[in-house]
Amino acid sequence: MSRDPRYDLLFEPVRIGPVTTKNRFFQVPHCNGMGYRDPSALATMRAIKAQGGWGVVCSEQAEIHPSAEICPFIELRVWDDQDLPMLARIADAIHTYGALAGLQLCHNGMNAPNLYSREIPFGPADLPVASSLLDPVQARAMTKGDLRDLRRWHRDAARRARRADYDLVYVYAGKLFGGPMFFLSRRYNTRTDEYGGSLENRARLLRELIEDTKEAVGDRCAVACRISVDELIGEQGLHADEARDVIAYLAETPDLWDLTLSSWDNDSQSSRFAAEGYQEPFVRGIKQLTTKPVVGVGRFTSPDMMVRMVRQGVLDLIGAARPSIADPFLPQKIEQGRIEDIRECIGCNICVSGDYTASIIRCTQNPSMGEEWRRGWHPERIRARHAEAQVLVIGAGPAGLEAAMMLGRRGYDVTLAERGTQLGGRLVRERTLPGLAAWGRVVDYRASQIARMPNVAIYRDNALSADDVLAFGAAYVAIATGSHWRRDAVSRSVLEAIPIDPQLPLLTPDDLLQGARPAAHSVLIYDDDHYYMGGVLAEHLATQGHAVTLATPAAEVSMWTRNTMEQPRIQRRLLELGVRIAPPRVLTAAAAGRIELACAFTGQCQVFESEALIMVSSRLPSNELSRALEQRAAELADAGIEHLETIGDACAPGTIAAAVFAGRRYAEELGTEPREGALPFRREVAELLPFDVRQLLGEP
Ligand SMILES: Cc1cc2nc3c(=O)[nH]c(=O)nc-3n(C[C@H](O)[C@H](O)[C@H](O)COP(=O)(O)O)c2cc1C
Ligand code: SF4
Repeated sequence: MSRDPRYDLLFEPVRIGPVTTKNRFFQVPHCNGMGYRDPSALATMRAIKAQGGWGVVCSEQAEIHPSAEICPFIELRVWDDQDLPMLARIADAIHTYGALAGLQLCHNGMNAPNLYSREIPFGPADLPVASSLLDPVQARAMTKGDLRDLRRWHRDAARRARRADYDLVYVYAGKLFGGPMFFLSRRYNTRTDEYGGSLENRARLLRELIEDTKEAVGDRCAVACRISVDELIGEQGLHADEARDVIAYLAETPDLWDLTLSSWDNDSQSSRFAAEGYQEPFVRGIKQLTTKPVVGVGRFTSPDMMVRMVRQGVLDLIGAARPSIADPFLPQKIEQGRIEDIRECIGCNICVSGDYTASIIRCTQNPSMGEEWRRGWHPERIRARHAEAQVLVIGAGPAGLEAAMMLGRRGYDVTLAERGTQLGGRLVRERTLPGLAAWGRVVDYRASQIARMPNVAIYRDNALSADDVLAFGAAYVAIATGSHWRRDAVSRSVLEAIPIDPQLPLLTPDDLLQGARPAAHSVLIYDDDHYYMGGVLAEHLATQGHAVTLATPAAEVSMWTRNTMEQPRIQRRLLELGVRIAPPRVLTAAAAGRIELACAFTGQCQVFESEALIMVSSRLPSNELSRALEQRAAELADAGIEHLETIGDACAPGTIAAAVFAGRRYAEELGTEPREGALPFRREVAELLPFDVRQLLGEP
């Protein structure tokens, strides 16, 4: 197949200062929870993006100095020459596949609590650090000496970037991460010297850093400036007009403008709150302020939208973080005319959660993300089957679909049996909840891939019993029968069943998803799950006209969605819909019209007079088939079954990303024998320095 000429524009080269990118696909900086801890894993992940056709592949924010590090987040470091081999390995891996390598130099300024280095953070003024974890740390106002130091460190870091062979070096003034943004911002910058006050003064540090960087490396490297175009907090923050004034003032200073909303939660908005292209209104017109190329973002997965951005003069380069995570081969697929093969980002922000939890990046759509080096997984390829064999996959939810698709790619003879009439498992109905439509892409992508595989047969409306499985005669059986919500309150806060009056109308998320409606006006949602379900059901029921109270033992609704940066938006939406949010409460008893909850701190009980209870506690694996077959283990061999495994939610309920990962893992590992004592993945252990404990402890 060849590419549609409508998309030719996307494959034009673009000059960026002294370098040229082969096309307009630009993987903007994104962290990944690997950073300095997992350099080879990081290099492999970036190389795969280059292999997939991205013209530019950037690093994450790379801390240039210990005076601004954001532990516990794991980023790259450019602190001294010790970091050079790691940085060079990444650039080299990117170059192997013909992409330009970008390094996002970052001095986090007042964002950095410096929990690792224990250096005193600094910024334009004496203020608490702006870190999202509310660290009890204050920054001090920078002196002229500090500003000189910062400029020197930035120059040194830029020179290291060049020595490590990067083509593009960033000056970062965005999202309250890049230190110069605090100087641009009137609310942080209250200085009265030449770095505060007028716009020219507030932009002075940024201008100096860009000029320094150009002077240091501009002969060979392009110098990019990533800047925030709006903080979405009105006059109080850096707003559209002011950001445009800064860009107009520095228009020709960098070689490239990289535009984003601020802060990070506005920049990486989830699909629940923003559609593809959501940043367009904020960047439109900025290109006309400069002759330099402009890159912008907005969860771009549609080539038509990308072309429109370029044709209408909004952007020169199509920036992407999440679309490149979900599908590192997106450019190549457009180039080869394989649009239907694009694995579109679903906008769930599970990738962000990796960063927030200081764990390796993960992606719902692309289970190989973060596993390229340590498990040897590739987003597009998988090794051929180990033998001619038949595999029966039972259950076509996220785990079963992924397993069937990847087993199909390996060349096995696969049968996918689904008890329902539709593919997707939990997603069949969850995708119909408010804001979750894009999550259906998990199903659509896999279903459309499988539909083209002659070696994968799907049987819908096919609930298999243990007898059926034994009679089927497949050598390998994967049971992916999903999970169901509990009717009792057993979850994190309540570990024993509590008294619930059978007269009280009680519904689980499964009941609601299957179309049941509470036969009552006032409902109380009890959420001890803390991810999206409680909040999304509150939204669903409130929009259907119910008077909704949401009670949870946590301090905030949907508290875990802090890790996907959705929590404040969820809480705001619920409040705007009139949902009553109870203070932190644990369910203690429930009877008709009388739901009793205890204060999570004092234990003092309060009665809520809601007429129905929606129980969002926890889930149980739907593993009856697994248990039945386990009991007949002695018959498996005679039935020709070599291996039986329960995967995904049927093993232990988790996120959709975890289920997809489980499906992939099953497909990857089928036919392999774990080596005795071997870890399930590789890890990189840093080289030990010489060590003499007696000398260190001061003994002669
Ligand atoms: C997991 C993740 C990590 C990110 N890390 C960075 C970063 O290190 N530096 C940065 O400037 N932006 C970072 N971003 C923001 C992205 O560069 C991008 O501006 C944003 O996600 C919107 O683009 P998208 O819709 O294509 O994802 C990150 C985004 C994600 C999803
Ligand atoms: S985790 Fe979700 S938001 Fe992030 S890239 Fe993957 S599909 Fe997109």
